[in-house]
Amino acid sequence: MKVHSAEASLTAEQHHLYEAARSASENAYAPYSNFRVGAALKTTRGREFMGCNVENASYGLTCCAERSAVFAAVAAEGPNMRIEAIAVYADSPNGSPCGACRQVLYEFGPHARVTFRADGELRSYQVADLLPASFELKL
Ligand code: THU
Repeated sequence: MKVHSAEASLTAEQHHLYEAARSASENAYAPYSNFRVGAALKTTRGREFMGCNVENASYGLTCCAERSAVFAAVAAEGPNMRIEAIAVYADSPNGSPCGACRQVLYEFGPHARVTFRADGELRSYQVADLLPASFELKL
């Protein structure tokens, strides 16, 4: 997998989104796992949207921070919303987006950059590199 950049060479915007994701994590509803996650994304139109994980007593209904942010962005900008960049924050050495969220990110931004902490270090990847052979609906 191609690593775009190590922490020192992340752009100012990637750092900004990561800090916004950290703020968003403060709104997480995570009484079951106590694992609070935040996401901040920038659309290709230049708007920013936040998301946090929202858990449920019926555990499987939980929505991750990344999908919360993507769905908020689609609700605001409509079906042509496209992701330019997204950052994910978790109070953990590893805040990597789960597989389900990678598929959702791919839908709206296969070339978007994703910033998160991996092995304790802030890194940035392209969505397509995080999800090789993504599902595409071809009839
Ligand atoms: N979680 C996210 O918000 N994003 C991910 O990519 C992985 C996991 C949340 C779901 C759940 O509320 C908590 O983290 C523990 O799995």
